[in-house]
Amino acid sequence: MADRYLHFTSTAPGRFLTSRLGLPQPAELRRWSAERPCLEGPLLHVTAGGPSLAGLPGLAEVLARTGLKAAEPAEPTGPAAEGERPAGVVLDATGVVTVAGLAEVHGALHPVVRSLSPGGRVVVLGAPLSDEDHHQAAAQQALEGFVRSLGKEIGRGRTVQLVRTVSATAAESTLRFLLSPKSAYVSGQVIEIGGPGTDTGTAAPANRDLPLAGRTALVTGSARGIGASVAATLARDGAKVFCLDVPQSQAELTRTADSLGGTALPLDITAADAADRIAAALPDGLDILVHNAGITRDRRLANMAADRWASVLDVNLDSVLRTTDGLLKSGTLRPGGRIVATASIAGIAGNTGQTNYAASKAGIIGLVRTLAPRLAEQHITLNAVAPGFIETRMTAAVPLFIREAGRRMNSLGQGGLPVDVAETTAWFAHPASDGVNGQVVRVCGQSLLGA
Ligand SMILES: NC(=O)c1ccc[n+]([C@@H]2O[C@H](COP(=O)([O-])OP(=O)(O)OC[C@H]3O[C@@H](n4cnc5c(N)ncnc54)[C@H](O)[C@@H]3O)[C@@H](O)[C@H]2O)c1
Repeated sequence: MADRYLHFTSTAPGRFLTSRLGLPQPAELRRWSAERPCLEGPLLHVTAGGPSLAGLPGLAEVLARTGLKAAEPAEPTGPAAEGERPAGVVLDATGVVTVAGLAEVHGALHPVVRSLSPGGRVVVLGAPLSDEDHHQAAAQQALEGFVRSLGKEIGRGRTVQLVRTVSATAAESTLRFLLSPKSAYVSGQVIEIGGPGTDTGTAAPANRDLPLAGRTALVTGSARGIGASVAATLARDGAKVFCLDVPQSQAELTRTADSLGGTALPLDITAADAADRIAAALPDGLDILVHNAGITRDRRLANMAADRWASVLDVNLDSVLRTTDGLLKSGTLRPGGRIVATASIAGIAGNTGQTNYAASKAGIIGLVRTLAPRLAEQHITLNAVAPGFIETRMTAAVPLFIREAGRRMNSLGQGGLPVDVAETTAWFAHPASDGVNGQVVRVCGQSLLGA
């Protein structure tokens, strides 16, 4: 559904009127396209503590491979001239272990933050929190509050994230994603690379333009909406896609699958034999499993009949557990595989009328936390996307007032698009994302809900 307010504020009369009335002016976000695949402007690399303090080894080389040219540090006396504005700033704060070190975070970003171009990116690199050194843990945890606050105030479509890592190479696929137009609607996130047992072999794909070439992906609920966009994005990246949806949506499903050179699999994911039927359709195995199918049956608990509870829990959670278990047991999901499940910010913050939906989506987060470290032994990763307000048929059905509130109550002042969830899924699915495991990443423009 079109966001008319966003389009209005991007016109000259719209800008004039909304500024006179003091109304929000969300910036139009630029997504990835083949013609404009990169952020436009240089990348500034700064280290808290200055260049004399050792930063993350190999970081400069990793950043050089993002395709963004290195920027000179801005003069602290004022903003850089238009055209020279950095499109991204990476602050290496991995060496910050004291409160005094945090002053260097301020010192590094204060002079440059104003000059960052509209739609630009700030990525702060932090270290994992120490179990033994509480000063280090305090200083590193402080970065989280810093990043979330900067995300809320920076404005103009800019985003801010914290990536905790011990290795620059393990973080490469994540940095490439965050420093690209593909992450336009992801902000205020804390991403941990290389958790317990996680593989960080970081196999760079043979063909960077087709990183998923030779891989097979199955996307549930992909006749339309977010699932169709996920299937299209994985196909763009070279995967052979299997599109699964309920038999009632067969016509729409076949259209989507055909347009991607993929295969339609009409199947209700709640069927008791769903995993067996998927395994039978994929005799050569599966590399990427995306659990996207989902439904809502909203009512306040006092008015919610048991069948509304049961159907939501069955589609959104139980079928995810059953299918995952079945495809792992049958060996259909190959070593090196990727599983991406779909949570929701409702599963983090809760939502009136959605006790069933929020329970199912919170359950996804529990699944990810516990199973991901165990799957690491098989070199399989399991992560979840947690979308906020995404413009789809699901949210078009939301009453007008609540829909408008959902769109505006985030740092970017607008709803996301299915492609924003799809790009995040493609980053999880990337062969070099083997260090990204057990993460729940919100695609919500830094929604105020549950933040
Ligand atoms: N749109 C949002 O703002 C938003 C926000 C948070 C989370 N999500 C989640 O993202 C996912 C996709 O949402 P969407 O907005 O694209 O919804 P949508 O209703 O447009 O699409 C969902 C798809 O899942 C399919 N599906 C439903 N039950 C199924 C079943 N039993 N077996 C197979 N397929 C089934 C539907 O037929 C449909 O094609 C869902 O898991 C949803 O909960 C969406």
